[in-house]
Amino acid sequence: MNITNTAVLVTGANRGLGRALVEEALRRGAKQVYAGTRKPLAHSDRRVTPLTLDVTNAVQIQEAVEKVESLDILINNAGVALYDDLTDRAALEQHLAVNLFGTHGMSQAFLPALTRSRGAIVNVLSLAALAPLPIIPAYSISKAAAFSLTQSLRALWAARGVSVHAVLAGGIDTDMSRGAYIPKSSPESVARGILEGLENGEEEIFPDPSSASMAESWHSGAAKALEREFAALLNGTAVGA
Ligand SMILES: NC(=O)c1ccc[n+]([C@@H]2O[C@H](COP(=O)([O-])OP(=O)(O)OC[C@H]3O[C@@H](n4cnc5c(N)ncnc54)[C@H](OP(=O)(O)O)[C@@H]3O)[C@@H](O)[C@H]2O)c1
Repeated sequence: MNITNTAVLVTGANRGLGRALVEEALRRGAKQVYAGTRKPLAHSDRRVTPLTLDVTNAVQIQEAVEKVESLDILINNAGVALYDDLTDRAALEQHLAVNLFGTHGMSQAFLPALTRSRGAIVNVLSLAALAPLPIIPAYSISKAAAFSLTQSLRALWAARGVSVHAVLAGGIDTDMSRGAYIPKSSPESVARGILEGLENGEEEIFPDPSSASMAESWHSGAAKALEREFAALLNGTAVGA
């Protein structure tokens, strides 16, 4: 996958990592970047087309599908993270609505366009998908669920030529992590790491120094081997055969 001359859609494109992904896609020669935002957005580059897009709103998702002529790369970046302690079911539902069902709804809606282009979906997840951060457990649950979604869609849509990637990022210096005392990378450097990983065809992208230390053990680890073994069941290959 080469970003040059592609059409890219980024959700949550108005600030933080989403905004940096828009700029990085432009820098790498994307011919068109659809910037999904909840509030109106203006951009000086003529290649950027703003889309009003709350990923929890099925009507707005459908309107976006109708406005996008063709699409090569869908980046599900929009996300929420709120402090909680799992006592409030509404907090869990709020995280799932955006981080899981938003990603699911966008992916399903753009599947026909991505099938036509033999394109890619990039789901921006977190290291919290692999091990929960107990200060934000509802967020961690939603990212773990979105990681499982990513792995299943990867297996289900491989035959259509659509690749599905997970970004397992460490801390990023954005509004989301403002109060957290963790190592953080700039959104610009993480955006570079994500699109570089996509261009290299990495299924799991570890785009920053704190996540990169996980990459080797993840790619050669038991969980990845099991994912491949289970995915092979779709092709009628028996496990262990
Ligand atoms: N920051 C970190 O440390 C970190 C680490 C690992 C992964 N991530 C992931 O990186 C992604 C981007 O986060 P960020 O750090 O850039 O956070 P951010 O600065 O808080 O930005 C979040 C973005 O998501 C948008 N958004 C929230 N709910 C939405 C909805 N229902 N529909 C559409 N857009 C919505 C926001 O739009 P509004 O401006 O309208 O609210 C905003 O553009 C998220 O998926 C996050 O989980 C972040």
